[in-house]
Amino acid sequence: MEMNGKRVICLMIFIQLFMVTGMTAQPAGFNYDESKVPEYSLPDPLVSLDGKGIMDASGWTNHRRAEVLELFQTHVYGRRPADPKRVSYVEASNVIALQGKAVRKQVTIRLDELGDGFDINVLIYLPPTIKGPVPAFLGYNFGGNQSIHADPGIIMPTSWMREERGVGYEGGIANEKSRGLSARRWPVEMILERGYALVNVYYGDIEADHAEGWKSGVRSQINRDDQGDHLEPDDWSAISAWSWGLSRVLDYLETDSAVDATKVAVFGHSRLGKTSLWAGASDERFALTISNDSGCGGAALNRRAFGETVQRINTNFPHWFSERFKTYNDNESALPVDQHMLIALMAPRPVYIASAEEDQWADPKGEFLSGKHAGPVYELFGLKGVEVDKQPSIHEPVGSSIGYHIRAGKHDVTDYDWEQYLNFADKHLR
Ligand code: GCU
Repeated sequence: MEMNGKRVICLMIFIQLFMVTGMTAQPAGFNYDESKVPEYSLPDPLVSLDGKGIMDASGWTNHRRAEVLELFQTHVYGRRPADPKRVSYVEASNVIALQGKAVRKQVTIRLDELGDGFDINVLIYLPPTIKGPVPAFLGYNFGGNQSIHADPGIIMPTSWMREERGVGYEGGIANEKSRGLSARRWPVEMILERGYALVNVYYGDIEADHAEGWKSGVRSQINRDDQGDHLEPDDWSAISAWSWGLSRVLDYLETDSAVDATKVAVFGHSRLGKTSLWAGASDERFALTISNDSGCGGAALNRRAFGETVQRINTNFPHWFSERFKTYNDNESALPVDQHMLIALMAPRPVYIASAEEDQWADPKGEFLSGKHAGPVYELFGLKGVEVDKQPSIHEPVGSSIGYHIRAGKHDVTDYDWEQYLNFADKHLR
């Protein structure tokens, strides 16, 4: 069958949009019917491996938490290496930006042990009128720091770029047209007006997001004996590497007097929401963790197998999780953990989970249930979780230490989502 030029272009644009935005609609062949969710029973976060019940906060903090973290490292995300010993920071001077609405700062984190090509380029916007350290949101972007705002002063990235991103990314290199392409997802001025800094990093600085990325990213250099020909079952995964990168940014923030590093909310959308959750779980210095539409391997319960499944995610994105996680393909019930225990690893620190109504691929109900079933761990600390039994209706944010909302619309990050994150941060970080 012959396709005319216009149709081919339309098809290509659709494929690009699909790959770039994760605009997955709802892939066919998966379960979206609540009545077909298999029966399952969740592992109990409050029963330790020796079968004993965890009765109080100290039992969680001193014993069970480490067990659960170890289970996630061994079976899901892989083991993070030790912190790097030699790191240096190259800071450009502060500049007034965004018509006086921001102070812009750009910092290069040099992982000196790794040599050239492993720099992490950090973009920081600070509220211009506040003296002294401010709380901050830290998150990765998908398209380079310049994609989050049209600000011409943002340094262009030089690391790996997904060619299929299309306009602004021709030949796999970000160009001037990519400035501000994702600005819709990053309401910088709104965040600054509310008195927070925004700290942003391109995830490709850490490792390219494809199956071979680990052979040239940080994982090829750190903590490996065999230097790059195969991965052990619990070697760190791409999500683990990206989350490790967020900890390196937090190391830097601890040295920067403009930001209060004890009040950093780590935020991520979709695969980067899976990453922010693993960052918040692995690094207790993060004061608050936010998961935006993180779905399978993020906030959604694996055992529900609703929308995206373990088998499908491991097949399409074999680098995101550890090699061992693949042994749970079509066998979720054999996992010694489920994602409510990932949420519980944040306790007693606050955590926020957000879903979108049309994002059935990410299993909004399963995302809510993870938050709900993490509640008993928060209760040990005298704290309340989502505070409701049933998933709320759209635009009805709930929760005390575990926040949750579902909004109308698609897999995306919207101003509505950010308003809830800011309100939640005001409650917990102020
Ligand atoms: C795909 C993938 C999801 C992921 C999303 C994204 O849709 O199946 O698990 O969250 O991409 O990161 O954009």
